Amino acid sequence: MLIDSPSVHSAEDSIERGEYVFRAAGCESCHTDADHDGEFLAGGRAFDTPFGGFYSPNITSDKTHGIGSWTAEEFIRAMREGIGPEGQDYYPVFPYATYTRVSDDDLLAMYAYLQQTPPVAQPNRPHDLPWYMRFRTANWIWKLMFLEPGPFRPDTGRSSTWNRGAYLVTALAHCDECHTPRNSFGALDLTRRMAGAALGGDESAPNISPDTAKGIGNWRQADLVRYLSKGIRPDEEFADGAMAEVIDNGLSHLRVEDLEAMAEYLMSLPAQQNP
Ligand code: HEC
Ligand code: HEC
Repeated sequence: MLIDSPSVHSAEDSIERGEYVFRAAGCESCHTDADHDGEFLAGGRAFDTPFGGFYSPNITSDKTHGIGSWTAEEFIRAMREGIGPEGQDYYPVFPYATYTRVSDDDLLAMYAYLQQTPPVAQPNRPHDLPWYMRFRTANWIWKLMFLEPGPFRPDTGRSSTWNRGAYLVTALAHCDECHTPRNSFGALDLTRRMAGAALGGDESAPNISPDTAKGIGNWRQADLVRYLSKGIRPDEEFADGAMAEVIDNGLSHLRVEDLEAMAEYLMSLPAQQNP
């Protein structure tokens, strides 16, 4: 079956599966302030964007400061529609425009996993935004323009491996969120997928389209799988910065078949010459 959903027999199975989905989705890097020894998933990590400074919230099972009192329906609505339990519209710095594609089963498993993480009583830090960005209603307009809510739909003309790779890359692992350039509204420019993009600060994500000159078209599929699981490039250099975190916290925990499926999908995308 496409989304690899063994029927869930016990709460334990679903927590284990939830942890796998959570790793594939790379939630930890954003929701843990690792640079300041922050506690696991307690939030507080800063994001410098052209729209202002954001801080990730606490998503531990703490009932007051985290999401411990949320229902599964509230969690699914946040992930799929970018709407919080009080009806607030989230800023797209929380990549729900990607996570909207995650299947219901995987979201429920992730919810079960998150609900048993250790609670941390750490209050959320308010965002540091210019006045015109403080109105969450603007996010509602952004969503009308750029959010297509709903789970991933497989392309029946492609193999199940390709579709599994497409699901992992476009619903969970959010490679586009860093490697695809954005328009002036901060939405992904899907005509230039994986062409490379500037991140906050002085970091940038390189072109990883299959272009032989600008991208990774000269890498073999096995090179890409090794890089995603171990962070070693074909020239034996190590992955650095944000990518090192993506690998350590997430991709290095995935099954090799899943990394192979992702590599197959990525290698099938159009080559992009310009970052
Ligand atoms: C690129 C960084 C980033 C990633 C990756 C990310 N988040 Fe977030 N998340 C944020 C930010 C920033 C916010 C705050 C958005 C706002 O205030 O509008 C947020 C908000 C949330 C909220 C709302 C919490 C609340 O108190 O209202 C939940 C739940 C959440 N994220 C869960 C997740 C899960 C689960 C994952 C992995 C599947 C994830 N996030 C991945 C940055 C991220
Ligand atoms: C949080 C941002 C972020 C995410 C998410 C992300 N990357 Fe990266 N990626 C980077 C950065 C930054 C680099 C540059 C790393 C370096 O300098 O060593 C990079 C480097 C790479 C490289 C090496 C390219 C080269 O020419 O050296 C590959 C391949 C790659 N990423 C693939 C992926 C894939 C596949 C995904 C999704 C599974 C992904 N990345 C998700 C930020 C990200």
